[in-house]
Amino acid sequence: MKQRTLAGRQVSAIGLGAMPMSMNNDKKYPSFEDAVATVHAALDAGVTLIDTADIYAPDGEEMGHNERIVAEALRTWDGDASSIFVATKGGIVLEQDGSKGRNGSPEYLRAAAEKSLAILGVDQIDLYQYHRPDRTRVYADIMKGLGALREEGLVRAVGISNASVEEIQIAIDVLGEGNLASVQNEFSPKHPGSIDELRFCATHGIAFLPWSPLGGTGGGATRVGDRYSAFREVGEAHGVSPQQAVLAWELALDPHVIPIPGARRAASITDSAQAANLELSEDEVLRLSESVGIFDD
Ligand SMILES: NC(=O)c1ccc[n+]([C@@H]2O[C@H](COP(=O)([O-])OP(=O)(O)OC[C@H]3O[C@@H](n4cnc5c(N)ncnc54)[C@H](OP(=O)(O)O)[C@@H]3O)[C@@H](O)[C@H]2O)c1
Repeated sequence: MKQRTLAGRQVSAIGLGAMPMSMNNDKKYPSFEDAVATVHAALDAGVTLIDTADIYAPDGEEMGHNERIVAEALRTWDGDASSIFVATKGGIVLEQDGSKGRNGSPEYLRAAAEKSLAILGVDQIDLYQYHRPDRTRVYADIMKGLGALREEGLVRAVGISNASVEEIQIAIDVLGEGNLASVQNEFSPKHPGSIDELRFCATHGIAFLPWSPLGGTGGGATRVGDRYSAFREVGEAHGVSPQQAVLAWELALDPHVIPIPGARRAASITDSAQAANLELSEDEVLRLSESVGIFDD
């Protein structure tokens, strides 16, 4: 599979978003064994990047559910698990009543990272992403706490998620140019609005990981070809699914883009992984971009 650079390492151009196996809009979850099998299918297909988070858990269940699936899948995979890059996140808290809050304090982030280390069963987290801005705090202060985790070696690289261009700039200023490994924002035909952050990352050499790259669970991803006919038509022209056309388009936007499509079923990630090798023509990329309102600068 084609490779891209993330935190100085080579990873598959298509990653696996593990979230739907523990949290999704349909509220339908695979068994633990089936979830592990889906991760194995991804790894067997050449996927070497897995995205998870401490908060990914079915309602009412304890945090770390999804990280446990990932850890078990890596432990039981018959390939070389040390070659797999695991990105996790912290900063969202599960309140007693089941609602979600945010905490960007250095103490909280340290404790959350330590829990993720224990659940993942590693000495160092490959990439620790600050999940969502805690608006009660100054972003620069949160970034200092995040940077400390890297300086002390708990995490090898740091990234941010759901960040504006201004917040990305603050992260660069605080962490130092070259020390912000990635930005993970929602980006898809349904949500092309983060093109500004994508382009900003590209100019700064920062990996951009589109989340819900197909339009999300609950029908968005499954029906992407019905809702966005240009993607269906380009997929048909290449004899592939509209989902592959979407992912190949995202990859074609910039070499720093690494989509992380979610999957519960092995068949979904096996199909999505093939998008890494789907070459679209310049005309196709332009047509797809324009169909969702993205035009050249
Ligand atoms: N940072 C954040 O705030 C944030 C927020 C949301 C998500 N994320 C990350 O982004 C990842 C992806 O987002 P997402 O899962 O919400 O949305 P998504 O990737 O747009 O859609 C996931 C759904 O697409 C289906 N699918 C995947 N590949 C397919 C294919 N080739 N053909 C047909 N259907 C396919 C899957 O179906 P099946 O389930 O049936 O396999 C899955 O339910 C998550 O796993 C998570 O890691 C991050």
